[in-house]
Amino acid sequence: MRLVVAITGATGTVLGVRLLEVLRKLDVETHLVLSDWARATLSLETDYTVNDVRALATYTHSAKDLAAAISSGSFLTDGMVVCPCSMKTLAAIRMGYGDNLITRAADVTLKERRRLVLVAREAPLSEIHLENMHYLARAGAVIFPPTIAYYTKPNSVDDVTDQIAGRVLDQLDIQHSTIDRWKSPLTEEKQ
Ligand SMILES: Cc1cc2nc3c(=O)[nH]c(=O)nc-3n(C[C@H](O)[C@H](O)[C@H](O)COP(=O)(O)O)c2cc1C
Repeated sequence: MRLVVAITGATGTVLGVRLLEVLRKLDVETHLVLSDWARATLSLETDYTVNDVRALATYTHSAKDLAAAISSGSFLTDGMVVCPCSMKTLAAIRMGYGDNLITRAADVTLKERRRLVLVAREAPLSEIHLENMHYLARAGAVIFPPTIAYYTKPNSVDDVTDQIAGRVLDQLDIQHSTIDRWKSPLTEEKQ
């Protein structure tokens, strides 16, 4: 399996790092692209360096390199995830504005009818954000806001990060056992 993983400058860059950690363990080939603001946000809110994150990926590409393999639909992938996805990158993808490798690869993913998961992070959401998300959802993207699943009773930010990363992997049809799945207490009572 081969996936494009992009990290942009929304808060929650650790979510992208956690995804890469799991994908590495699962032997998934990853093509990583970090935006300039992902690099800045990573250093502002985590202890990871850009090199730490790059080392988790199979291949890394500069966001400026529009000649990278993932810029072309002829390079086969199983999909792409932007995690987290800023409202700026979301807006550019919505418009088909491929001026960097993240928005170009996302455009390619949509045109080739491959899975595109956007872990869109902002709060509150303006009408512009919502309209962009609505448009992208109709165009085939999965809009996945990184929200807390309180029913999992998380004890830490790490727990929340694991749960969100695991549910994002579900959207990419990747088999994993990194999260506790919901079991109905009512069904269990009956058995
Ligand atoms: C610490 C920090 C947190 C940010 N959080 C968000 C956010 O949650 N959502 C968002 O859309 N932009 C956020 N931004 C602003 C984006 O970084 C900015 O819009 C940038 O142009 C995004 O560019 P990129 O999509 O190319 O990474 C944040 C910026 C900083 C410095």
